Amino acid sequence: MRIWISIRISIAVLVLALAPVLSAQRIKIGPQRLAPYVPSPPQVVEEMLRIAGVTENDMVYDLGSGDGRIVITAAQQFGARAVGVEIDHKLVEQTQARLRELNLSSRVEIVEQDAMEVDLSPASVVTLYLLTSSNEMLKPNLEKTLKPGSRVVSHDFRISGWTPSRTEVIRGEARTHTIYLYEVGKQ
Ligand SMILES: C[S@@+](CC[C@H](N)C(=O)[O-])C[C@H]1O[C@@H](n2cnc3c(N)ncnc32)[C@H](O)[C@@H]1O
Repeated sequence: MRIWISIRISIAVLVLALAPVLSAQRIKIGPQRLAPYVPSPPQVVEEMLRIAGVTENDMVYDLGSGDGRIVITAAQQFGARAVGVEIDHKLVEQTQARLRELNLSSRVEIVEQDAMEVDLSPASVVTLYLLTSSNEMLKPNLEKTLKPGSRVVSHDFRISGWTPSRTEVIRGEARTHTIYLYEVGKQ
């Protein structure tokens, strides 16, 4: 009888001891989905990069890069180097295949990673097409990591608490699109 009681107590203690570890593991599993996949129209992509003044001296990071259209345009039309950060495995593979076809793999990299965890210190330009709530979650990392003079361009969704240095409205085929440009150190 006493042996059964002590076995039960040992199991209860083990479960309690493991609970925080298991719960931390659960938190780590599966990054948070910051937005569904909805591609920016090509004219919006070009305008985002144009108003950010992207040149061959820039390192552009697209957080949630979808099919890679922003990073590909940054390299092809603006001469920049670029990194796309994407959690959807199929989109990552599709974009990497496209980069090989276009011979752009040396200038553009796609990383399969949670945008919340990426090191943004190499970036001089960050592009976003997420949600206001997602921008809010990314803001501490942007504020901590980006160098003064870096630009953040967001399609349709503001970064709350920051003042855009420029806002542009574009008439698209189906609707209008708004682009917000923020300059680090001036926002
Ligand atoms: C609205 S789409 C924008 C795609 C592209 N940037 C564009 O403008 O065409 C948002 C993208 O973010 C990706 N995404 C969502 N949550 C993410 C996360 N935590 N880390 C990285 N990518 C994420 C989605 O899979 C989707 O491809």
